[in-house]
Amino acid sequence: MKNIVILFSGDGTNFEYLATHLPQDKICIKKAICNNPKAQGIKKAIKHNIPLEMIDSSIYKNREEFDEVLVEEIKKADVDLVVLAGFMRILTPVFTKQIKSINLHPSLLPRHKGTNAIEKSFNDEFREGGVSVHYVNDELDGGEIILQREISKDGLSFDEYHQKIKNLEKKALLDAILVALS
Ligand code: GAR
Repeated sequence: MKNIVILFSGDGTNFEYLATHLPQDKICIKKAICNNPKAQGIKKAIKHNIPLEMIDSSIYKNREEFDEVLVEEIKKADVDLVVLAGFMRILTPVFTKQIKSINLHPSLLPRHKGTNAIEKSFNDEFREGGVSVHYVNDELDGGEIILQREISKDGLSFDEYHQKIKNLEKKALLDAILVALS
């Protein structure tokens, strides 16, 4: 059995997909950690009976101080991998040097690192967009890529493209977890 911790900040739709689709005989979600008390994903943790820790990032003086508390909380569990599923924080070496983690990002990296990647991908000069899952290192959205999934933008409205990315990213993240744990 492999143990994972999932980090999220907002709606938690990727978190919920993992809660319902990961093979339960092989992978256990030991807990979820959220940094935003207003996140919709909190209800999903309760619904699926997944232990949830709230570490409100707004109360910490700087990123390092938050990361120290985050690392401490992760280390309480016997964890093989930490999964960033919509975790909207830049992590410092305090975290990246100690924790093996992967991150989901809704663009074909290295295109469009950072925020609003779906909008930026839709509006760029390429005919295709997609999603990436990568190991987390000190560089924002810059770690080694585990896998990418691509779709054509041809003929799609922004809403259609957005929905396709939201569907595509869930299975991509699940597949990448299996790779990272293998
Ligand atoms: C997802 O689209 C994910 O790819 C993106 O945040 C969203 C979270 O949705 N992540 C990033 O942009 C990371 N840089 P969710 O809360 O419904 O899972």
